[in-house]
Amino acid sequence: MPTTEITAAPASAPATSQAERTPDPCIVVIFGASGDLTKRKLLPALYHLEQSGLLPKDFAVVGVARRPLEKTFAPDMKEGIISGGGVESDDAKLDPFVNRVQYHAMNFDDAAGYDALKTMLAEIDTKFGTQGNRLFYLATAPEYFSDIIKYLGEHCMAKPADCGDGGNWVRVIIEKPFGHDLESAKALNNEVNKVFGEDQIFRIDHYLGKETVQNILVFRFANGIFENVWNRNYIDHVEITAAESIGIEGRGPFYETAGALRDVVQNHVMELLSFVAMEPPVSFAADAVRAEKIKVWKAVQPIHPADTVRGQYGPGAVDGKPAVGYRQEERVHPRSQTETYAALRLEIENWRWAGVPFYIRAGKRLARRVTEISIHFKLPPLLLFKDAQGKGGEGIRPNVLSMRIQPDEGITLQFGAKVPGPTMTISKVNMDFSYAQAFGQSSANGYERLLLDAMFGDATLFAHRDGVEATWALMTPILETWAKDPIRDFPNYAAGTWGPATADALMKSDGRKWRKL
Ligand code: BG6
Repeated sequence: MPTTEITAAPASAPATSQAERTPDPCIVVIFGASGDLTKRKLLPALYHLEQSGLLPKDFAVVGVARRPLEKTFAPDMKEGIISGGGVESDDAKLDPFVNRVQYHAMNFDDAAGYDALKTMLAEIDTKFGTQGNRLFYLATAPEYFSDIIKYLGEHCMAKPADCGDGGNWVRVIIEKPFGHDLESAKALNNEVNKVFGEDQIFRIDHYLGKETVQNILVFRFANGIFENVWNRNYIDHVEITAAESIGIEGRGPFYETAGALRDVVQNHVMELLSFVAMEPPVSFAADAVRAEKIKVWKAVQPIHPADTVRGQYGPGAVDGKPAVGYRQEERVHPRSQTETYAALRLEIENWRWAGVPFYIRAGKRLARRVTEISIHFKLPPLLLFKDAQGKGGEGIRPNVLSMRIQPDEGITLQFGAKVPGPTMTISKVNMDFSYAQAFGQSSANGYERLLLDAMFGDATLFAHRDGVEATWALMTPILETWAKDPIRDFPNYAAGTWGPATADALMKSDGRKWRKL
C-alpha cells in the first residue's frame, strides 16, 4: 500500500518540553530486588535518568530481598544496566552510580529486619546526603505487599514525622497485580491507606510510562483537528489489541492464578481505553486526569457474558519455531482452565460514545507482538464513488486511524486516494508517522518517567484507589461467570495464530472483522 511519511520538524525547531529539574535527594528502596524486574528494568531506568542528569546528586539505591546477595547485588545490577539498558561498560558515570547501590537481606515478615533496614538507611543518609527522603518500591510477589506495608508503618518508616523521626517525604510505589478481584483490591487499598496517605501511594502500571501511551493524550488534546471527529458521530468502532508472541516465560505458578484478563486487560488495556475515551481534563494535574479516567470506566456498561471470549493456546509454531501448548508449560496444570487470551466487546454509555462498540483482545503466543489502538471511522454519508473499484483499487474503505503503541511505534491514517489513470479507481493509502524516524531510537523502557514522577510526587501517571476499584468492578463479574462455567474445548487456538475462532465470531455477529495486524 502506498505510504506518505510524516517526519518531525527539523532539529532546529525547539520541542515543547517541561523545564528539566531534579528531584530532592533520596534513597530508592526496592523490596523484591532479586527479581527480574529490578535488574532488567528498574536499575537500567534509574541509570538512564542518571545519564540524562535527571537524578539528584545525593542519591542511593538499596535492594532488599531474602537471599544473602550482599557481594553480588551491585555487580549484577551493573551487568543489568549494560545488557538491559544498552549502556557501554566504560560509561563514565557507571561506576560512581553502582557505588551507590547497596543491598540488605531480610525476610519480609521479620520485624528485626526492618529495624536493621532503618538503621542502614539512616547511615546512608549520613554517607550520601539523602536527607531522610525515601521512595519504597514494592516489587515482590503480591502476597508480601501487606506485610511490608504493615511493618513499614509499625517501624515508623511510613510517616516518620508522626513519631518525631524527621519531616522528610516517604512514598511507596506498588507493582501490579494490585488485587486479584474487586474484594481483594479493596482490602489491599484499606491496608495501604491505613499506613500511607493516598498522596504517598503510587500504584504503577508500566504502560503509562510508555511514550506512545502518553502521546495518545498529546495527539488528542495538543492538536486542534482530531477532537472534533472523536465521537459517536464520526466513529464506527474502536479496537484495542495487546498481542504478545511470547508465552508465559517460566511464570507458570503466577499465570495460573492470573490469566489474560487479570494480567493485562484489567490494568494495561483499561488504561489505554481510558486515554482513548476520556474527556479533556481541566489540567494535566493528577486529580484532574484521574477524575476523567474514572468517569470512562464508570460509564462502561456491565459486560454481558456473550460479549466475552476466552482462549488458551495449544501447541503450534511462533516465528517459525515450534512452541508447546500452555498446558505443557512448566508448572502449569495439565488440565488448566486459565485463559491465555481474552476478547471483550464493551460499550461506554455517555454522550460521546453511546452506540460505539469497543472491541478488546489480549493474548499470549499470538502471531506477533503488537499493541495497537485503531479508530474506525464511518463511511461518508454519500457514496459518490461507490462504483470506483477498478483494477488495483479497493473502492471506498472507511478511514482508520491506528496508534501503534509497540513495536514500530507510530501513528497511521489510512484514507482513500484516486489511482492515477483514465478510470475512477480508488485505493487505500497511508499517512505514516514513525517515532523512530522522527525522533530516533530510544533505549528508555518506560520506567524512567514513572520513577522520576514518583520522586517528584507527581501521581498523574499512576492509578488512584478509585480507578483500580472501578476497573476491578468491571472485570470481577466476568471472572466469576467464567469460573462457574469451565471451557471444554481448551486449548482452542494454536500458538502462533491470532486466537480462537470464537473471537472472530464475536466480531462477525456485529458484521465486522478484527483488523489484520
Ligand atoms: C506485564 C504482564 O504486566 O505486562 C506480562 O504481567 C506481559 O504478562 C507484560 O508480558 C507486557 O508488557 P510489555 O511492556 O512487554 O507490553
